[in-house]
Amino acid sequence: MRVLVTGGTGFIGSHTVVELINAGHEAVIVDNLYNSDIHVLDRIEKITGVRPEFFETDILDFEGLEKVFQAHEYDAIIHFAGYKAVGESVAKPLVYYENNISGSLNLYHLAAKYNVKRIVFSSSATVYGDDFEAPFKEEYGYGTTTNPYGTTKLFNERILTDLAFADKELSAVLLRYFNPIGAHKSGLIGEVPNGIPNNLLPYIAKVANGQLPYLSVFGDDYDTVDGTGVRDYIHVVDLARAHVKALDYAMNHTGAEVINIGTGKGYSVLQVLHAYEKACGKEIPYKIVARRPGDIATCYADPSKAKKLLGFETQYDIEEMCEDGYRFSSQNPDGIK
Ligand code: NAD
Ligand code: UFG
Repeated sequence: MRVLVTGGTGFIGSHTVVELINAGHEAVIVDNLYNSDIHVLDRIEKITGVRPEFFETDILDFEGLEKVFQAHEYDAIIHFAGYKAVGESVAKPLVYYENNISGSLNLYHLAAKYNVKRIVFSSSATVYGDDFEAPFKEEYGYGTTTNPYGTTKLFNERILTDLAFADKELSAVLLRYFNPIGAHKSGLIGEVPNGIPNNLLPYIAKVANGQLPYLSVFGDDYDTVDGTGVRDYIHVVDLARAHVKALDYAMNHTGAEVINIGTGKGYSVLQVLHAYEKACGKEIPYKIVARRPGDIATCYADPSKAKKLLGFETQYDIEEMCEDGYRFSSQNPDGIK
């Protein structure tokens, strides 16, 4: 199958391209390199022996994106391209709505024009908001999103659901990711945050590398095992494998389907910190500080629908997520260049 992967040089996209190639598919990447580096292509080639075709194109550029559709026929699209920083989206909502909604609309217009009927979309557990109790089940629908980033995910889910209702040949698989971490076993690709990281694992990695002095733990008074926030961390290679399964599903089904992609297990901030300490063999200094506004206490998936519909189950545990994440970040302290 030839698959167009938007955002394919990014963190989740690059791992998914590797798994697509491993599964015998052809991946064509479109990315504007806003949050990734061109050398990711060298790394993908080193891992797989295949250099994917690459278009340095902004999905906001309709004419530019149309050239990508004119270059080949695609069997499916996996749509990762977008901005993802929650705090930044609160400060710059228009930038987020423009990129994540207008960019997606360009893509969906062209998919319709060029007859591409299978779309896998990167959604997020953030669409559950803080309205429900974990484990989060797809049948809960949507909660109240607490930031513009989350709202762009919710809107994309709605748009694709409406498109699949209007076009009975369309298949839209809406994957709600929980917290992807870790890196490819080769240490060649992984997560490269811009500036000071917002997310837990990239922050811990910088402390372990001596690039930041200590981790601030946002609150220890939640109703959880040790008072710190609980999340469902999933190895990025497991998440990438889920996309290959989602494509297989999209080949044989029509309509829109929301599917959680998580492990079903929750770990607290301190549990993750200790797992990372074990992986890197160092103590990670931390300080307890105030809660971060907008955070919820506990978030983990009910992963049973992914197992039932996609035959997908995770393979890697928190220890391996930390070991693989540490391997990448210690070997690439300044990212992929
Ligand atoms: P990432 O930033 O590493 O990858 C996104 C890629 O999209 C980057 O390479 C960036 O350059 C590209 N991009 C952004 N805007 C673009 C545009 N207008 N045109 C072309 N390319 C553009 O992020 P990621 O962690 O790999 O996330 C991938 C997707 O998964 C995103 O849509 C994100 O919102 C979603 N998601 C991520 C997480 C997470 O925790 N990482 C959780 C849930 C959902
Ligand atoms: N945390 C800290 N210190 C930090 C960073 C995070 O204590 O420096 C804590 C948070 O309070 C939370 C946990 O670590 O309890 C995880 O926080 P992250 O920022 O890593 O992840 P979130 O669960 O807040 O959000 C992530 C993505 C969102 C996505 C969501 C669900 O950032 O985009 O997972 O998929 F929507």
